[in-house]
Amino acid sequence: MHKRCVVGVLACLVGFSMAVEAQAPAEAKQDKQAFIDDLLGRMTLDEKLGQLNLVSIGDDYPRETAMAQIRAGQVGGMFNTVTKPDIRRMQDQVEHSRLKIPLFYAYDVVHGHRTIFPISLGLAASWDLEAVALSGRVSAIEAAADGLNMTFSPMVDITRDPRWGRVSEGFGEDTYLTSKMSEVMVRAYQGEDPSAPDRIMASVKHFALYGAAEGGRDYNTVDMSPQRMHQDYLPPYKAAVDAGAGGVMVALNAVNGEPATASRWLLRDLLRQQWGFGGVTLSDHGAVKSLIEHGVAANEPQTAKLALEAGIDMDMHDRMFGLHLPGLLGRGEVQQAHIDEAVRNVLGVKWDMGLFADAYRHLGPASSDPVDTNAEERLHRAESRAVARTAMVLLKNEAQTLPLARQGTLALVGPLADSKLDMIGSWSAAGRAEQAVTLLEGLRNAVGDQARILHARGANISDDPRVLGFVNDAEIESPVDPRPAQAMIDEAVEAARQADVVIAAVGEARGMAHESASRSDLNIPENQRALLRALKATGKPLVLVLMNGRPLTLNWEHENAGAILETWFSGTEGGNAIADVLFGDYNPSGKLPMTFPRSVGQVPLYYSELNTGRPAKPDETGSGKYTSRYFDIENGPLYPFGYGLSYTEFSLSPIRMSDTRLGRDGQLTASVTLKNIGTREGATVVQLYLQDITGSISRPKKELKGFEKVTLEPGESRQVSFPISEADLRFFNASLQWTSEPGDFNLYIGLDSQDVQQQRFTLH
Ligand code: BGC
Repeated sequence: MHKRCVVGVLACLVGFSMAVEAQAPAEAKQDKQAFIDDLLGRMTLDEKLGQLNLVSIGDDYPRETAMAQIRAGQVGGMFNTVTKPDIRRMQDQVEHSRLKIPLFYAYDVVHGHRTIFPISLGLAASWDLEAVALSGRVSAIEAAADGLNMTFSPMVDITRDPRWGRVSEGFGEDTYLTSKMSEVMVRAYQGEDPSAPDRIMASVKHFALYGAAEGGRDYNTVDMSPQRMHQDYLPPYKAAVDAGAGGVMVALNAVNGEPATASRWLLRDLLRQQWGFGGVTLSDHGAVKSLIEHGVAANEPQTAKLALEAGIDMDMHDRMFGLHLPGLLGRGEVQQAHIDEAVRNVLGVKWDMGLFADAYRHLGPASSDPVDTNAEERLHRAESRAVARTAMVLLKNEAQTLPLARQGTLALVGPLADSKLDMIGSWSAAGRAEQAVTLLEGLRNAVGDQARILHARGANISDDPRVLGFVNDAEIESPVDPRPAQAMIDEAVEAARQADVVIAAVGEARGMAHESASRSDLNIPENQRALLRALKATGKPLVLVLMNGRPLTLNWEHENAGAILETWFSGTEGGNAIADVLFGDYNPSGKLPMTFPRSVGQVPLYYSELNTGRPAKPDETGSGKYTSRYFDIENGPLYPFGYGLSYTEFSLSPIRMSDTRLGRDGQLTASVTLKNIGTREGATVVQLYLQDITGSISRPKKELKGFEKVTLEPGESRQVSFPISEADLRFFNASLQWTSEPGDFNLYIGLDSQDVQQQRFTLH
């Protein structure tokens, strides 16, 4: 229930296809089995344990050590080698090993590889599956061209707590939307055959429920009811598995007291037996050893035993398997069968990567190595720009403040106006900041000599030493202008006074929305807000260009800015893409994939909540005592899930139902007519939500069940239809059966999750 192609031509250029993975012929499966049986039969214990060793090059594990271990057959896979010559150097060592089992090479290719696309939260905001697929497709092409075989992506943790920095890496709060993204990403990376020269294998992460870390504090415990787990949090991982993901990375957190890395239930019962996963499981970085800190293992050997028995195949970085399994096996404390099974899984994905047919599959001959890995011609700038435009969400546009005219004087201020590193965002591992286009550059490119641009930084990213210390901890990511804050504000105000319009690029440094970057406050840092207040006081039209990796609390900004454009961290071509939107060369069409709360105190706040037995009435006046509400703030968000404006306006007709009764084997259709009643071409997302009014357990107020992104010319209208069948109404009941129940359902269609048309139907 989705479609639309805003990036169609580019998609064709990179050979994007959504074809379903071809079923491997039975003989190929037999060949694979026979090959693995034979190889396994010839391996020593040391060589087997080598296959379970996923190493990471770094200060504590230098290249020379890695090469010696490869020659000894003690390494199965590697990450953090990311250029062809580097990887080739490693793979060449395999020739000196006894069994010559190739390594695979993995990397965090999360939202682009050399060319960076918007952060995943931004990709989700596009609600454009073709655009998202294009980003994955280009990532695979570029990663494979660097010799990589696997990406630690997609990250599909459902995230309902914006305090967690890793919300930037995922696709937001909604199960349906994230599951679509998950499936599309896996297919885009892997295509029909992950061994193809321009494809890579996907390793979905973080299994499971990492996004529900208590308090939004990274790595924290997750405690969750089985219903919510199965209904809301697990489907996106399953979507990746069903789409054929070859790898699963296991989460760092505990689930209901049991660390995922030690959870037989997660890895054996659910993943392998129920879902039929046949690929490889990877522990996250150092996760096996961390079972001691989790308090479920008393010593290192116990960590190895727990993880192996739970179903971890490869031990990332901490070598607990290699160091301790021999002793454990000798003492009869682990079974050979468990080791062999893990080795089989590793060899299996290497077979699927085509490495046994040709270990240099993605490397090719040395003569094909690029002279310059970061050469400009290796980038896919047009694709990055096209996708970035689709990801931006217009949150406010009073009196048509936007789009801007290419004339007069524009003042561009803010700590993010000319920051290349922040443009590419978190987990842009192989991306080069210096290749990114900043907003200042993008504006200059867009206006040429048609308008004058004044630029002043206006503020540092923060003046809180704690924040600055954190962001600039390992290296200076956010340089600090040493001038007094007031002097910077004065300079910006002076620029604003000379300008016709002020554009303020404000928000977060990329390091504030990353792994291990949890915040307790969701405001734009106070010194930047002081800048905004001073700009507002000039009386000039104020456009906020937000760059950030999580929902922020924007009450003052909403009250006071003329326009607000959410751009996330938009990637290599970010500055050009933002300029496209600011000047109306592209009409914004993104919709929020996460609720924006009014206050951090409302968190977690998500649209698909349960009603409670004492729901607050939306129009409640007075104290509303004894209803489920805050007395000092309203319940609802500032910007709801699915929200986003356009430079044009759309109208939606009442919903037409083909029937109001649905049989178990039948189908009904709900249709609306969408019309562009404004004066510009534009796209929006028509969203379908359902509510099971009375069930055997309480069901959400609304759940997204379909969407379609539609582009219309001014005056044009289009009928959008959503077919609904019994399968769309299923849920996990109190006994965890996936079932539907007869009764009445509300059906909502709207252009966001709040402002909807309503109908009703009955399942009988
Ligand atoms: C992260 C993973 C990542 C891994 C390797 C870990 O710290 O949790 O998401 O894939 O590092 O870089």
